[in-house]
Amino acid sequence: MKPAVITGTGLYRPPHVITNAELVVSFNAYADLQNARHAAAIAAGERQAVPHSSVEFIEKASGIRQRYVIEKEGVLDPTRMRPKFAPRRDEDLSLMAEIAVDAAKQALAAAGREAGEIDGVLCAAANMQRAYPAMACEIQAALGAGGYGFDMNVACSSATFAIEQAANAVRTGSARRVLVVNPEITSAHLEWRDRDCHFIFGDVCTAAVVESAESAAEGKAAEHWQVLGTKLVTQYSNNIRNNAGFLNRCEDTDPDARDKTFMQEGRKVFKEVVPMAAAHIEQHLHALGFEPTHVRRYWLHQANLGMNQLIVKRLVGQEVGDDIAPIILSEYANTASAGSIIAFHHHRGGLKVGDVGVICSFGAGYSVGSVVVRRL
Ligand code: COA
Repeated sequence: MKPAVITGTGLYRPPHVITNAELVVSFNAYADLQNARHAAAIAAGERQAVPHSSVEFIEKASGIRQRYVIEKEGVLDPTRMRPKFAPRRDEDLSLMAEIAVDAAKQALAAAGREAGEIDGVLCAAANMQRAYPAMACEIQAALGAGGYGFDMNVACSSATFAIEQAANAVRTGSARRVLVVNPEITSAHLEWRDRDCHFIFGDVCTAAVVESAESAAEGKAAEHWQVLGTKLVTQYSNNIRNNAGFLNRCEDTDPDARDKTFMQEGRKVFKEVVPMAAAHIEQHLHALGFEPTHVRRYWLHQANLGMNQLIVKRLVGQEVGDDIAPIILSEYANTASAGSIIAFHHHRGGLKVGDVGVICSFGAGYSVGSVVVRRL
């Protein structure tokens, strides 16, 4: 087996920021409108009033302070509460492909590669813009990449699961270089009208180039991160669910019903996923001959600050700071599968040759994916 090496990453960051304060003003205006519209039913006890959200709750419960979005006005309009995207012609580059191409070009530049040198494109994300043709084929064509492209969805673990597929392709020799892109337009699957989760997500796209060691050695990349191992696990759970799908119209259900966007039992997810992710990482490290305390940096999925602190505390036996487990969710919020890759993209500078780090995602499925890397 040829070892796999990550030679470059890229990050598309949307142009608009929504602070918690802005978000809460908009949510509370929506709540007031709803409560005024249904005042009689609420007074008669037939309906519950929509309670106000609060900045203090959001920051304390999640650690999120703001999020980036591709479109802001629609989200903050209390009579709309979702982004407003202009439909595009089939001949034009689609929105998901557009942000993927942006992140991909940065990753290719960091890897010192031309798109034509890529043998495969994996578009891995929690949502796909359409059923087919695959987003990956469009991204491949827009970049001028070679080989093949296909889409993958493992919700918040899509990126790490795709890195394993990319690493396997270069390990076995079926490809020399694979591009992984994670366009996460989470603003479109988030229910901005639900107080329990309206603050959770942000939009972004990440990209990574995975090459065989031989290819990386011949290339011009400034950094080489050897993939020492990848490990994936899933365990079925309904605690994070979204029922939007192609059968909806045949079921004659309301396309705007609550179950057609992101739903979760946040507290259950927190309690169940923390031990699952910590045990997974520990087993993976042990299988590779490492102790969790050997790890110089953990680039974890970014859904909740407390979750990440607890996972790392379980692993290394003490509370750690940003130097061991950097947090990007205060700035980006939860960006589905892209979170751990954003952390890796922004916070790998201080590591020395030989240092070992873990990229790990966890989320719906449940799914956990870990990628153990060493700086070469
Ligand atoms: N503003 C003010 N109060 C709010 C609120 C808001 N926006 N949202 C909920 N509350 C209230 C609740 O109604 C509840 O009130 P009660 O105690 O009177 O019933 C209280 O705050 C606590 O709510 P709860 O949902 O239990 O909060 P929590 O501490 O579990 O935090 C999450 C919520 C979502 C931040 C947290 O559970 C989480 O991040 N879980 C992990 C999620 C995850 O990893 N998901 C993966 C997705 S990819």
